[in-house]
Amino acid sequence: MPDGSTRAGNHPSLTQHLATSCLVGLIALETYIRSQHSPTGSQLMKYYLAYASHDGQTKKIIGKISEFLEKNGEKIVFLPLVTGMEQLPTDLKNNRILIGAPIRYGFHLRPVRQFISRNLAELNQAHTAFFSVNLTARKPEKSTPQTNAYLRKYLEKSKFEPKKAAVFAGALNYPDYKPWDRVMIQLIMKMTNGPTDPKLTVEFTDWIAVEHFAKELSQ
Ligand SMILES: Cc1cc2nc3c(=O)[nH]c(=O)nc-3n(C[C@H](O)[C@H](O)[C@H](O)COP(=O)(O)O)c2cc1C
Repeated sequence: MPDGSTRAGNHPSLTQHLATSCLVGLIALETYIRSQHSPTGSQLMKYYLAYASHDGQTKKIIGKISEFLEKNGEKIVFLPLVTGMEQLPTDLKNNRILIGAPIRYGFHLRPVRQFISRNLAELNQAHTAFFSVNLTARKPEKSTPQTNAYLRKYLEKSKFEPKKAAVFAGALNYPDYKPWDRVMIQLIMKMTNGPTDPKLTVEFTDWIAVEHFAKELSQ
């Protein structure tokens, strides 16, 4: 049986052609408009997520925050800090940056401190947010920027003035630590009434608090 569509009578008319072209054009326009705006209606913004992580917990927190921001329509650019000599993004005027760092033996990891001190003036002018990860913050009374001594003292000393700040409890992973580190952490935990069982792995991070912070970041 011959294929009906090849017969002249079944060819789409000029009007049908025009209608189809219009429809395609409208869909393309809508796609473009959507790509320029987040679901909340605000202009699409880039969020730089700069971080250092020795054992992976800060990176995991950054990952959670990025998931939330992406869902909210933000464009994410990860900026792992390894040396502290990484280039500061040049378009911070229209975008934002979050910096996260864990505490190790009393200090935020060096690449983060170095990155911040090298770019202090620009970061203090930009929409910069910061969070600290440590085990002291597992205690609720030491888990805010005002009550966590590591964060408070670091901000005081460095003159870093992030617009938003948070502290999150980190993770404890005795089996993965080198012997010396394990003993030292056990000692600190003993002094602060924390767990000392060398077989233990505990994640103290409050993921609801992380999500609240992420929500704050996109406001
Ligand atoms: C060797 C070592 C030293 C640490 N020193 C401290 C410390 O001085 N104060 C503290 O509250 N937490 C301390 N911590 C806990 C870390 O901040 C916590 O494990 C965090 O989750 C590590 O983040 P990261 O996985 O991104 O490296 C230490 C952990 C290790 C392994």
